[in-house]
Amino acid sequence: MISRANVNDVPIILRIERKCFGRRGFSKAHIIWILKNPAAMTYVYSHQERPVGTIMLKRDLDVARVVSIAVLPGHRRRGVGTELMAMAEDIMREQGAKVMKLEVNVNNDTAINFYRHLGYDFDGILKGYYSWGEDAYVMGKTLDQEEDSEVDCIGFRS
Ligand SMILES: CC(C)(COP(=O)(O)OP(=O)(O)OC[C@H]1O[C@@H](n2cnc3c(N)ncnc32)[C@H](O)[C@@H]1OP(=O)(O)O)[C@@H](O)C(=O)NCCC(=O)NCCS
Repeated sequence: MISRANVNDVPIILRIERKCFGRRGFSKAHIIWILKNPAAMTYVYSHQERPVGTIMLKRDLDVARVVSIAVLPGHRRRGVGTELMAMAEDIMREQGAKVMKLEVNVNNDTAINFYRHLGYDFDGILKGYYSWGEDAYVMGKTLDQEEDSEVDCIGFRS
């Protein structure tokens, strides 16, 4: 089950951040800031009523962004991340976003494989993006609008 998070969920989100990113996870203050940001949305994935994954999103007009996604180690490779990303893309598409973007550590092979598997392409590199000095790839995916694909289809047939 996926549910929208609010400030009451800070301890849950903080726990998952720490387990997935260690000391490089977002601080409590940053999580609260994201939860209170009107342009951002955070969701929690629960398995048998236990929170096991989170996704944080932000939208700026046409461009949506995955701020963070994390699944607890014991629950990985079971499709939780894929479900969270699919939901995120649906929500952002409904809100009118045309593209989903994200930054990923150039050394995070797991996450790079994950995003490639979901159809994300490389869209540049940000040197020294992280506070500890590592670089990030920018990755992105076009969020096809259903109306557009219908029009394309009719256009192709005529
Ligand atoms: C990246 C992450 C969110 C993926 O979550 P997940 O629930 O395990 O992902 P899924 O089970 O939906 O995986 C979907 C596909 O991604 C790819 N993938 C996922 N983990 C992978 C791994 N360790 N190695 C290679 N490919 C992997 C596979 O193609 C997988 O499909 P398959 O299992 O059928 O082979 C999770 O590994 C995680 O939380 N990592 C730590 C936090 C992190 O790095 N977040 C990203 C920050 S940018």
